[in-house]
Amino acid sequence: MSGEQSQTAPAAASIRAAPDGTRHAGLLGVGAYRPVRVVPNDEISGKIDSSDEWIRSRSGIEARRWAGEGETVVAMSIASAGKALAHAGVRPDQVGVVIVATVSHLYQTPSAASEVAHRIGAAGAAAFDVSAACAGFCYGVAMARDMVLAGSTEHALVVGVERLSDLTDPFDRSTAFIFADGAGAAVVGPSAEPGIGPVVWGSDGSGLDLIRQEQPWDVAFYGGDAPEWPHLEMQGNAVYRWAAYEMAKIAQEALDAAGVSVEDLDAFIPHQANMRITDVMVKALRLPPSVAVARDISGQGNTSAASVPLAMAGLLESGEVTSGDLALIIGFGAGLVYAAQVVRIP
Ligand code: UT7
Repeated sequence: MSGEQSQTAPAAASIRAAPDGTRHAGLLGVGAYRPVRVVPNDEISGKIDSSDEWIRSRSGIEARRWAGEGETVVAMSIASAGKALAHAGVRPDQVGVVIVATVSHLYQTPSAASEVAHRIGAAGAAAFDVSAACAGFCYGVAMARDMVLAGSTEHALVVGVERLSDLTDPFDRSTAFIFADGAGAAVVGPSAEPGIGPVVWGSDGSGLDLIRQEQPWDVAFYGGDAPEWPHLEMQGNAVYRWAAYEMAKIAQEALDAAGVSVEDLDAFIPHQANMRITDVMVKALRLPPSVAVARDISGQGNTSAASVPLAMAGLLESGEVTSGDLALIIGFGAGLVYAAQVVRIP
């Protein structure tokens, strides 16, 4: 060792830098699971002094699907995940992160994601649930994109899944006809070109009371003389006004963040909350008629976190969009929370 070398202090250990900005992330595959049982409006309207005509004209819903025995949150997640992985050509053991967005997994712990990861064969994958209501899938895609870009994982599985029929009071006029069940999944991974734009997301807690579980579980079970199942409650019209008029602005911000104009878009896939909300947003965004608009609320109802991937899969199945098309997705709901981004259809 020379004298010069012996006087040099050893270099301080450094944390390896994140991958450089040349890495891109995209949606590689999408898959849907729709529960077997179709529930038409007439099966619901009698209990809430409503009618098929009222439900159709106010919400656009003609029927929805409610999960039956065996169609659990985890089972529906696994079914949609299998289709998304097959579509992506990604093996379960290549999945490094599993994110399940849901508000209707009735176990406080462990997460649905841990069970999904284990049962699909994504051994050792990081796994966690996201509670961001109807924005949950878009939140999950945003996180998965950033993880792939940062090198935290090669592939992430994002599932949006709900069994809202478990949490809905069949005698509540404001919710009984709207909420529904299902699952949709997407695989996020490296791509040759940017396939997922920057997310525009946020929350507005001043609207906390507009959609919420009536009571926490402990109060529901121990707070009174008789245990009372804590259903979801919603001030529909206030939510409607917020969604219809504020969410188009968020959608426009997502377009701007991605550097995409409405003329560039092939599809608009908003959370399927209410057909009238979709109509208002289409108008506010001045979408050209060439843009395919997801409207599967008519047969699916409002499936919260599942609605965007379900609608995306539906547009692919019907041939209204094809792989490589540019789509604007947006989710919004209880919290109040929202998230929007531009994606390429896998
Ligand atoms: O997914 C998360 C976010 N959720 C949403 O985005 C849902 C947003 N909200 C909605 O989709 C709509 O507010 C609903 C579809 C839930 C309700 O439609 P609306 O046009 O906002 O109805 P409304 O609550 O303002 O009620 C209008 C009328 C009222 O009667 P009057 O006062 O005008 O005589 C209600 O009593 O309709 C009556 N009504 C019903 N009638 C038949 C309310 N619920 C019903 C019902 N059937 N189920």
